[in-house]
Amino acid sequence: MNVRRPVAILSQIRAPRARCIGGDALPVADTKHRANAPLTRPQFAHESEEEFARLLDFYGIRWEYEPRSFPLEWDETGRVIESFNPDFYLPDVDLYIELTTLKQSLVTRKNRKIRRLRELYPDVRLEIFYGRDYRNLLFKYGLAKGWDSPAPYVKTLAHDIERILFTEAQIQDRVRELGEQISRDYTGKSPLLVSVLKGALYFIADLSRAISIPVAMDFMAITSYGGEKASSGAVRIIKDLDEKITGRNVILVEDIIDTGLTASYLVKNLSARDPASVRICTLLDKSVRRIVQDLPIDYRGFEVPDIFVVGYGLDYRQLYRNLPFIGVLKEEALQRT
Ligand code: IMP
Ligand code: MG
Repeated sequence: MNVRRPVAILSQIRAPRARCIGGDALPVADTKHRANAPLTRPQFAHESEEEFARLLDFYGIRWEYEPRSFPLEWDETGRVIESFNPDFYLPDVDLYIELTTLKQSLVTRKNRKIRRLRELYPDVRLEIFYGRDYRNLLFKYGLAKGWDSPAPYVKTLAHDIERILFTEAQIQDRVRELGEQISRDYTGKSPLLVSVLKGALYFIADLSRAISIPVAMDFMAITSYGGEKASSGAVRIIKDLDEKITGRNVILVEDIIDTGLTASYLVKNLSARDPASVRICTLLDKSVRRIVQDLPIDYRGFEVPDIFVVGYGLDYRQLYRNLPFIGVLKEEALQRT
């Protein structure tokens, strides 16, 4: 067999057979900051691949399935007679992943191919995942960082999570952007960040540190007469602001705006105290659930679909606030009494 290395290797790489990006939670154009919902699922060749894809989705790691075929051998006419298609590509870390069982008959042939791939394409980064312990492998390769809190208790809570919607890193990036935006918009002023306990606790802590102009903070506590998962819009203030806000530029910092009833009540309440301005900054916007029509949101972290989310301040029955990411609870955790 004549093995050549054509100059134009790239031109022989065929078009993606199946392409899917899961974990679509990264900022892109106008679909910006939408929660990750894999659009189409490719046809997986093995159940283990599907399992791995689910795990990548869980961690919000974007992936493509068999997006590229690397020619390894050519015949005399230059026709490709052997190639290698790694199972996954993770674009954010520029890494190909090949899932492999330990079945000896397959391993030898695959190892030969992988050696060849490394010779021909030295710049291509490929990791081989042996066995099915993908979770540990992701940690080992440093891919699944950002949720593995050192506190055992937080780890236990994390097991109630179906999937991660926004990773710690994604939240931090977005909060930084919002902080920069606010710093620009309020240059020369010193806005007052008003937050409602307790959901926006982590958000206001991080946001205020991402703002590069002088800011003050004040807090309110309210109870909404709703169930555990929805608000009725009827709000009672149980702790009011410490300071007067007359003439101040107020930014209402919210964790999530759902029906909009709470925020609408608060904006009216604050506006009645003669501030110079009142604007809304919310980390999450569940706009599909909006009841209040006229609620201008000036700063919005992420759009979320109509699902109940927890973490980074958001609770279910006062739990899960201290998860560093925002995720979707498993049904069993919602049913638990
Ligand atoms: P709204 O008055 O319907 O906009 O409700 C806003 C409040 O409902 C938030 O401040 C949260 O306390 C709560 N909420 C709405 N959706 C969620 C969710 O998905 N997870 C946790 N709390 C939520
Ligand atoms: Mg709540």
